[in-house]
Amino acid sequence: MPKQKLIIDTDPGIDDAMAIHYAFAHEDLDLIGLTTIFGNVFVEQATRNAIVLTDQAGRIIPVCEGAKTPLSMPANAPSHYVHGDEGFGDFPAITPSRSADPRSAHVFLADTIRAFPGEVILCPIGPLTNIAQLLEHDPAIAGLVKKVVIMGGAVDCPGNVTPYAEANIWNDPHAADIVFAADWDMELIGLDVTSHISCDASDFKTLASQSPDIGGFLDRISQFYITFYHGVIGRHVCLMHDPSAVISITNRAVFDYESIPLEVVCSGEQIGATIRTGKARRPVKVAKQVNAATVRKIFLDICSQCDKIKS
Ligand code: BDR
Ligand code: CA
Repeated sequence: MPKQKLIIDTDPGIDDAMAIHYAFAHEDLDLIGLTTIFGNVFVEQATRNAIVLTDQAGRIIPVCEGAKTPLSMPANAPSHYVHGDEGFGDFPAITPSRSADPRSAHVFLADTIRAFPGEVILCPIGPLTNIAQLLEHDPAIAGLVKKVVIMGGAVDCPGNVTPYAEANIWNDPHAADIVFAADWDMELIGLDVTSHISCDASDFKTLASQSPDIGGFLDRISQFYITFYHGVIGRHVCLMHDPSAVISITNRAVFDYESIPLEVVCSGEQIGATIRTGKARRPVKVAKQVNAATVRKIFLDICSQCDKIKS
């Protein structure tokens, strides 16, 4: 079986780091590029952090910087209280080995998808600004992407930044609405499932013992994230939002989906809410149920190999 070509659009971010190291470690995935976006941190920091993750894995893939701000509103402040000042908890700033690829995110996405028509899965795990810019830059691109697997949204459950909105959608609701309106195969791994998927401190300690470099890094940065979640949900765990989206690509059967045409509320109290729409839109496959214990086990099994696959 040829490996699945994958591009992750990301705002690293603690759970972004977990998702990216999972993708590097999985033998069925060919992570061919990272594009960066504001969100958990400013985009310049997201780019540095993304390059650091490629350095850790020893995989020199293109890292292309994307949007600094949302399409049509001022940016919300970075979520330092969730991910730390530099994006990796209280881990001190790490200097990346190189600069970013000079192409902007949406240009890299268009060029790469066109180079491999029908072969690339796009997995955005941050605000959707770059993906909306991709559709504006190259309107025919939707027919050339294999599928889009998004971490974001809260369809039949409360949000996590407001009672209505999940963070990635809330950070650029106008972009998310453009993405949901596009005619492409789209799956949504949102809070309906990810709020049930967690790992605890002992899981990350085990990873650190199995894979001291990358597992040790994930263990270290998870501590800040677990402290944040303890304050929010009262349990010493962290929710595995972004890794769950990548795991849904390698293990789709662990999730159950409902096809729902979606739109995003773009103003007012409910801004950022992902709601059912009566507009004529291609339905999004929204993950509604998950075997959370299996997702946790898959993440830990694959990431136990992180150091072994480093090149
Ligand atoms: C999403 O928001 C960010 O904080 C996480 O990295 C994840 O992508 C969860 O709502
Ligand atoms: Ca993220």
